Amino acid sequence: MNLYTRLINKDHPLPPDYVPENLTDIGIPFDAPCGDPKRLLEIRTAHAALTLIQAAQKESLIITGISGYRSYKRQQQLSTGNPYVASPGTSEHQSGLALDVSCPSIQYQLIPEFAETPEGKWLKRNASLYGFIIRYPANKEPITGIPWEPWHIRYVTRPLAGCLALTGLTLEEYYSTFGAPLQNPEPEIT
Ligand code: DAL
Ligand code: ZN
Repeated sequence: MNLYTRLINKDHPLPPDYVPENLTDIGIPFDAPCGDPKRLLEIRTAHAALTLIQAAQKESLIITGISGYRSYKRQQQLSTGNPYVASPGTSEHQSGLALDVSCPSIQYQLIPEFAETPEGKWLKRNASLYGFIIRYPANKEPITGIPWEPWHIRYVTRPLAGCLALTGLTLEEYYSTFGAPLQNPEPEIT
């Protein structure tokens, strides 16, 4: 199965020892100091995130990275029954394909109010142009198992992101309707 389009959730976890090979800090604005592993992203994801953030900047919007890569062990430390925190192995952050973002006007918090900020609105409209989806939409908790997170974007490539944005399907719904995406040009993970 393709890394970029892989479904990662409670029923489709990553192996505990899975670490993406090509993690990089590409230098996007982050609310974390240099050297903090949360600044890391899988390399294509990092490039796409940088392009997205630069496009927002051209419209005077400040989208800031809060949390990118998290190891299985780090996810274990964070996972305390909080519904917003996925169990170890089931978090997209372990894949390096997910990024939590926020903005200055809400003090860089990860809160539902992000959706009402100009940055949050822009992100919802434009994320798919850069290959990202808002992975945990409002009213889809029964399907995704995760409450609404307007700040969590997941890189899935532009073709799939465009399809999901147009149809309003979650990744779970796409897989249950169509199965795994057919075009898998990227290397697999095991
Ligand atoms: N907040 C998301 C669900 C995670 O922990 O991966
Ligand atoms: Zn997240």
